[in-house]
Amino acid sequence: SIYTDYFFDEAAYNTHDGGYVPLAEPKTPQQPLRIPPLLKPDKETATDTYYTVEAQAGETQLLPGKKTKTWGYNGSLLGQTVVFAKGKTMHIDLKNSLPELTTFHWHGLNVPGPYTDGGCHAPVYPGKTRNIDFKVDQPAATLWLHAHPCPSTAEQVWHGLAGLALVTDDVEAKLPFPRNYGVDDIPLVLQDRRFHEDNQWDYNADYDPDGVQGPTPMINGTINPYFDVTTQRVRLRILDGANRREWRLHFDDDLPFTQIASDGGVMPEPVEFTHLMLTCAERTEIIVDFGKVTPGKTVTLYSDDVPLVRFRVHDFATDTAKLPDHLVDIPDPEVTPDTPIRKVVMSGMDEQVMIDGKKFEMQRIDAKQKVGNVELWDVTNTNDMEGGMVHPFHMHGTQFLVVSRNGHEPYANEHGFKDTVGVNPGETVRLKVWFDKPGVFMYHCHIIEHEDGGMMAQIEAYDPQHPQTYKLMDMDTL
Ligand code: C2O
Ligand code: CU
Ligand code: CU
Repeated sequence: SIYTDYFFDEAAYNTHDGGYVPLAEPKTPQQPLRIPPLLKPDKETATDTYYTVEAQAGETQLLPGKKTKTWGYNGSLLGQTVVFAKGKTMHIDLKNSLPELTTFHWHGLNVPGPYTDGGCHAPVYPGKTRNIDFKVDQPAATLWLHAHPCPSTAEQVWHGLAGLALVTDDVEAKLPFPRNYGVDDIPLVLQDRRFHEDNQWDYNADYDPDGVQGPTPMINGTINPYFDVTTQRVRLRILDGANRREWRLHFDDDLPFTQIASDGGVMPEPVEFTHLMLTCAERTEIIVDFGKVTPGKTVTLYSDDVPLVRFRVHDFATDTAKLPDHLVDIPDPEVTPDTPIRKVVMSGMDEQVMIDGKKFEMQRIDAKQKVGNVELWDVTNTNDMEGGMVHPFHMHGTQFLVVSRNGHEPYANEHGFKDTVGVNPGETVRLKVWFDKPGVFMYHCHIIEHEDGGMMAQIEAYDPQHPQTYKLMDMDTL
């Protein structure tokens, strides 16, 4: 069955509060979609890979006329795509060439916290380099890297500090998916910006405590992009990299597409859609089959009725590959006996946002969970339909399973690993959560201004055999 109305009637969610900025089609000429280059390792052996990731300031030609001042990783805007091969050990130099402190957070990566994870307790000061090492220990997935210095995560991401990290493994490599990067395996980082005088961004001028938005869609750092389709099937790795915007995605003529992966990797079963919504920080991998499209035609990807990317279909060889009904096995461990259900409540709007009635404190550990224990978490969004927003709930240090939504089955594409889940106004989403690495990990709303505004807490995943103490940053030392 093809899901045709998935989330799509809920357009009202992000229009509830008065600050909502609708998207508008750019009036500037179409440009080829930028494909972030793959980051070259400094060195590579059979077992180890060495990378340098440098946060830097620069300028980017986004619109005709003046260049825009932007930030990026190993480039002027966004990032170069980092590949993590499962089983290999990574050694990464994190270099900060910016004029201010930043951190390098690997969103979705299964590594110890809080330093390797790169949340706000892992600062890299201007002109300094920090090194992290870790073994890649999770299934193939589309993850991302973004700045996470509290409380200026949102502003740094707005400046452009967001890149992709792709985990590869042997299981995914055997599936009949397109995987020729830049040709038929394409990242799409969905963001929105407002351009001010001289084509510049102005975070403070656009500030909104419920999330900064702009009317202009920016895809992989391209305004008004097109992409030349030269293969029948194209895999899109889509990231909602916006500070607060949801995307309600669909193609011309309701062309169906097949979702094969969610945040944490390949889903047990592929699911077919014509419309799909993505909330902040969520990833979806879809395969679009252009086999029925006449060469020479253009198929546009939209959010609501605003064009995001135009796919110009060229001639291609016939591709008869068929997806199996079952893609991968996902572990579904039993809940640890005698474990109470953990409750997490996201409440408030604007400056009042909180988790469990409290604002984030860097030196306060809000919860503890034993490494390896499997717990149910009930995550509630108290905002009602009238004044509410979807809060995309994100956890560091784990890929969780979605058990239910208000007691009902989760959505059809929520049967795989997730690290971010949209919690609708008035809803309680039940998650199954476990940690396999120790550390202090944040969990928060991924409307980034909500996170910076205090809708964030932290949990220590602990191993009683190896107790650890962590040096937690203090807001005032930032
Ligand atoms: Cu995408 Cu706390 O992170
Ligand atoms: Cu994260
Ligand atoms: Cu929120």
